[in-house]
Amino acid sequence: MDDRGVLALLRSRRACRRRRYGNNAAARNRTAVRHAHQHANARVRGLIRFAGEKGAMLTMKKVKIGVIGAGSISDIHLGSYSRNPEVTIYAICDLNGERAKQKAAVYGAEHTYTDYRELLADPAIDAVSICTWNNSHAEISIAAVEAGKHVLVEKPLCKTVEEALRVEHAVKKSGKVLQVGFVRRYGSNTDILNRFIEAGELGDIYYAKATCLRRLGNPGGWFADKERSGGGPLIDLGVHIIDLCWYLMGKPKVKSISGNTYNKLGNRANINNLSFYKASDYDSSKNTVEDLANAMIRFKNGASLMVDVSFTLHAKQDEITVKIFGDKGGAEIEPGLFIVTEKHDTILNVTPQVDQLAFDFTNGFQNEINHFIDSCLGRQETRSPVEDGLEVMKMLCGIYESAALGKEIQFG
Ligand SMILES: NC(=O)c1ccc[n+]([C@@H]2O[C@H](COP(=O)([O-])OP(=O)(O)OC[C@H]3O[C@@H](n4cnc5c(N)ncnc54)[C@H](O)[C@@H]3O)[C@@H](O)[C@H]2O)c1
Repeated sequence: MDDRGVLALLRSRRACRRRRYGNNAAARNRTAVRHAHQHANARVRGLIRFAGEKGAMLTMKKVKIGVIGAGSISDIHLGSYSRNPEVTIYAICDLNGERAKQKAAVYGAEHTYTDYRELLADPAIDAVSICTWNNSHAEISIAAVEAGKHVLVEKPLCKTVEEALRVEHAVKKSGKVLQVGFVRRYGSNTDILNRFIEAGELGDIYYAKATCLRRLGNPGGWFADKERSGGGPLIDLGVHIIDLCWYLMGKPKVKSISGNTYNKLGNRANINNLSFYKASDYDSSKNTVEDLANAMIRFKNGASLMVDVSFTLHAKQDEITVKIFGDKGGAEIEPGLFIVTEKHDTILNVTPQVDQLAFDFTNGFQNEINHFIDSCLGRQETRSPVEDGLEVMKMLCGIYESAALGKEIQFG
């Protein structure tokens, strides 16, 4: 089924609504908009599946994907691509050739590479996921859009604001899609909360507070090497919760930042009998990143965000909490969705009755990947564009800069 077929189907739905609502244009339009939102993607996917089943009847070109970086996170990208009927997993690249071949065998990719430039030179590839160390995100993103590929780049966008500006420039010049892997934006709990926010139920959001504390969890390897990662828990974990708050707050402009970082405990590789997440090439011999960071971010609209993150800390247990507060209501999205409001002079604590109150890793990534493919096919603008990656880099780098200077820094 091609685009014309889909349009014909949407036209027939319109005719049906006209019969049902007669001349009541407003009711017709409201229903049309709701139906378009609810059904367009599902119908298109269904039709493509149908076309696939009927094989000879109709053909739709699939999006050919290359995945660069075949470590831990690549598995969830590859798994999500493999469940999207509009995708062919075509090539995998890793500095470690064996790792690339292993993943190619599991996910059925025809081609493997150890040099991303060779992968990008293949004109058959439409889009790439970049799942490499942070120090190569900018370089590979720029090369990919210049080679005419759409890009899904894992968080953080890159290591510095200067790099982020160069990526933004290349993306704008190329006209290609670059989606930043701010996966928390694609959680079903985020979607639900956003509907409450957009309906004004929280009112003016003026404060957010986010915590992601690991008592033991420096992943070692490249994560602990500032050259390759750009930093420790702040750039690795803080990026998610800062972005989530900022996104839910309506993406206000930053006014000033006051941050602190601490290197007090090292990586605590001495600890026995307690397991934790490790890089694919775990190595505890080098650790040049902070173990704790905290910050207060002030925005130009008067709102503020308080954040703290750690790879290790003498805390009783790991903790993740993300809360936002408005003048009509508040909400928690981590550890689970929760809404606080006031009605008839009474405070209400509301637990939404939904399948997933917490962030669901598998579904979140599937939504992110499906959204990326829909964006590559021109059906919508991406929800996490390069400009947002740049703004988040300004906040992360601002915290590091403030901590290094020992004072608050101002933004123009
Ligand atoms: N969205 C999330 O929740 C999430 C979770 C984990 C990691 N990540 C991000 O994903 C990226 C990868 O993290 P990971 O946990 O998979 O790390 P990892 O160490 O498990 O894997 C990284 C892989 O990239 C390869 N690599 C590095 N530079 C390369 C290059 N220039 N060309 C080809 N291959 C290269 C390495 O050989 C390694 O196999 C990081 O940017 C990280 O921040 C995101």
